[in-house]
Amino acid sequence: MQRMVSGMRSTGKLHLGHYLGVIDNWLKLQNEYECYFFIADWHALTTKYDKTETLKQDVLEVAMDWLAAGIDPEKATIYVQSQVPEIAELHIYLSMITPQNWVERDPTLKDMAKILKSKEGMASQINYGLMGYPVLMSADIMMFNADFVPVGIDQVAHVELTRDITRRFNNIYNTDFFHEAQPKLNECSLICGLDGNKMGKSFNNDIKISDTAEVTAKKVMSAITDRSRMRKYDPGHPEDCEVAFKYWKIFGSEDEVETVRCECEKGARGCADCKRQLGAKINERFAQIRERRRYYEEHPEVVKQILADGSAKARKEAQNILREVKNIIGMY
Ligand code: TRP
Ligand code: SF4
Repeated sequence: MQRMVSGMRSTGKLHLGHYLGVIDNWLKLQNEYECYFFIADWHALTTKYDKTETLKQDVLEVAMDWLAAGIDPEKATIYVQSQVPEIAELHIYLSMITPQNWVERDPTLKDMAKILKSKEGMASQINYGLMGYPVLMSADIMMFNADFVPVGIDQVAHVELTRDITRRFNNIYNTDFFHEAQPKLNECSLICGLDGNKMGKSFNNDIKISDTAEVTAKKVMSAITDRSRMRKYDPGHPEDCEVAFKYWKIFGSEDEVETVRCECEKGARGCADCKRQLGAKINERFAQIRERRRYYEEHPEVVKQILADGSAKARKEAQNILREVKNIIGMY
């Protein structure tokens, strides 16, 4: 079976953007490929090395969201990056063969650096570790000799660099050991935040997988609608309804979306009612997931055990690969 590796940084509780954009895909992939899904706590450290109070809990929150969503430890290997130290060793070998200008031209990294520079006092956060971000990511992928890497479009440049590093390794050491991993773009509906911008944890515009039904309903009530609509029975313009109607298209059936569209255009549907229904619809979709999440919240020891078992399993395979790699390089 072909292999897949993908990871998410340990950023704490995940939102619907993560769910629809990434996890929903993984649910299918875990049936079709040999999957390695991991929580990238080292990558989280590249920008949050001085804010580590919540790091352990952040890892658990991500794991709980995955498990609740249906990522199945019987199918996929679920592990924590830092629990597989072989990745760090492979990262050293890769860092030796990666030209400095390759990482400097990585567009995603350039963007991250630009954002950090623009924030007061953050320029010093552009550290050596952050420059190595894509090389560490290459180590994540090559550690299991992956064939595919399911990622969002923003990560494709990193995977391209991984392919360059793979080719270079194979060339330098005259081997065909490493497979050139291909990015596999997530098929997903992009969901915007409640304010119409990109959904993000730090923008205060997200709905969390773990939010209660009440909190979700309240958040949905704040979603932007058709801004030109003044009164409840004015005809509305669903296509200009910046957030609510877009959500309907993601969470409603075709019939429901058509009903909303017609009633809105005729002025037969008020925005408050419309969003009340929408909130209920979203809650319906996540009810089971949230119930499962509550189980894991009440049993953190179960989650920790799953991560420990997955990490041990991943580590075993990583050790096999590393032994081979050291042999190829000619290490002592
Ligand atoms: N950089 C990815 C992100 O921010 C997370 C990640 C780290 C990753 N290592 C990876 C994704 C390896 C795929 C493969 O989303
Ligand atoms: Fe948007 Fe619904 Fe209001 Fe129409 S009725 S503008 S679809 S929230």
